[in-house]
Amino acid sequence: MCGIVGYIGREEAAPILLYGLERLEYRGYDSAGIAVYDKGKLNVAKAVGKLKNLCELTDNGAKVSGCIGIGHTRWATHGQPSTDNSHPHLSGSGKIAIVHNGIVENYMKIREMLLSEGFTFKSETDTEVAVQLIEYYYKGNLLEAVSKAVDKIEGSYAFGVISSDHPDELIAVRKESPLIVAYGETGNFIASDITAVLKYTRNVAYLEDGDIAVVKKDGVKFYNSYLKEIQREKAYIDWDVEDAQREGYQHFMLKEIYEQPKVVKNTLSAHIKDGRIDLSDTLLTPEYCREIKRISIIGCGSAYHVGVVGKYLLEKYTRIPTEAVLASEFRYTDPIIDNHTLVIVISQSGETADTRAALREAKSLGARTLAIVNVVGSSIAKEADSVIYTLAGPEIAVATTKAYSAQLAVMYLITTALSSTRGLISAAEYDEVLAEMLRIPGKIETVLSDREQLQHLASMYFNNSSIFFIGRNLDYAISLEGSLKLKEISYIHSEAYAGGELKHGTISLIEPETLVVAVATCEKLFDKIISNVKEVKAREANVLCITQNKSFNAASAVTDNVFTIPNTHEMLTPSLAAIPLQLFAYYVALDRGCDIDKPRNLAKSVTVE
Ligand code: F6R
Repeated sequence: MCGIVGYIGREEAAPILLYGLERLEYRGYDSAGIAVYDKGKLNVAKAVGKLKNLCELTDNGAKVSGCIGIGHTRWATHGQPSTDNSHPHLSGSGKIAIVHNGIVENYMKIREMLLSEGFTFKSETDTEVAVQLIEYYYKGNLLEAVSKAVDKIEGSYAFGVISSDHPDELIAVRKESPLIVAYGETGNFIASDITAVLKYTRNVAYLEDGDIAVVKKDGVKFYNSYLKEIQREKAYIDWDVEDAQREGYQHFMLKEIYEQPKVVKNTLSAHIKDGRIDLSDTLLTPEYCREIKRISIIGCGSAYHVGVVGKYLLEKYTRIPTEAVLASEFRYTDPIIDNHTLVIVISQSGETADTRAALREAKSLGARTLAIVNVVGSSIAKEADSVIYTLAGPEIAVATTKAYSAQLAVMYLITTALSSTRGLISAAEYDEVLAEMLRIPGKIETVLSDREQLQHLASMYFNNSSIFFIGRNLDYAISLEGSLKLKEISYIHSEAYAGGELKHGTISLIEPETLVVAVATCEKLFDKIISNVKEVKAREANVLCITQNKSFNAASAVTDNVFTIPNTHEMLTPSLAAIPLQLFAYYVALDRGCDIDKPRNLAKSVTVE
């Protein structure tokens, strides 16, 4: 995700900012920039691509003199990676500069208001809207203007703000996006991530949601959203740099698993406006939605597994014939595609060679193409007719978790929107599904809070040489993902089967003590999957069942261990069922001493066929 660093003190700011940005590089970014105040003016330098471009541009900071400044590494969300879109952004007068992490959800509305007041914009970003809004409220007191502006802003943010009218202060404010103040010997800092400042100090204070900090070179004051002064305690950080990058988590995979409530919320809220799903900025206009005759969903690995979820959901709720196809197979199957086919390609990286080739093939056959992609400006995002971005931020662990969850969220949005446009879902059910979708992030938190149970289960089974996953319908799609997660990071042999398929061959592999993970969240198929559980129990397998709270008693009666997820709408169970399987895989791999973030033989982005 984006990174923020700011400094005010006696030293030259630019080299400190560039050093801080370098420490933030691990988070992933596509452009970087700094703004430094000197002699009555804010000087901004920005460069697309690697940080070394910004270092070259500024001669390692020597060309941008001054002792107060802010810096940023940007991971594009609104608008392509470009110098105009990268941060810091200046207000129209050039007197206020801002850096921003997070998303201003109501930026279009604010932009329209500001346009009507005569403001103009140079970038496509939500951040420029925020700095112009501060300027709109600015009447000589920067703190007041920032406070009024954030009061109008919906979404998540960490802002760092400086102004040429106030060269003695740096303002920091946050809501749902991390930001710290750090106390150094030559001055003070702000940062989105402790790593950016660990070289200079280990004394920090954490901003809480709604806090505004006014940072000066010799002190810091904290205010609440009513501008009443408050106290924030100092903390001493004894982590090393690598620990700090993982924000205290032992692995990036675990950190990313824990980021899922936030990324699912961000991805959903980007497309829900005034109680309705709004995909009008994609090719899914109501007219087009009514024309679609067939859907193909294409991806590799976990992205393909989201496609399998999509197949079940779209066929049930839209009655459009839908297939999920492995990208590597698609080209060689002589696909039946025409201009009434919607092809949805799913890719976290947006660079997967097979998915990209399949996209081109689909386009050449006349299909309309929609990409679900995480990396803004990636090849697949550029080549598809239309894109829906998952707002998962950079994923560092090789095994995907948060991008997968964000892709599921997009699948729910597409399914519900298409179902509604085609008149297949009642207004009441639409409202019910949407309301429950918005509760999913909270329910994921509930599942995450049970991690100790999964840790315990992992400690019971980590020595197994083979683990099977079974499920039916959506639970089969989740089994595929659970099995892939486990095998790729723990190196245990694992396979996923549709429950009914077991007795057509695989059941011969079930021996006493073999672990079978039964995903049993589809209420309508619960009895069916329990029949399969009985088949493996009869061969003395151990069974771990993942089911909804309401089925706990029934599941406990026939299985060895039960992990429950909160009850939810039948469409949305994948988002909750996936979480325990990710955590189970994580703890099994941990117990086996595997290199969890970088499993052997695997790469994060597979750019060769
Ligand atoms: C599994 C995993 C891979 C990817 C696959 C597609 O944890 O990460 O299976 O899902 O390589 O990658 P993207 O989504 O970048 O196209």
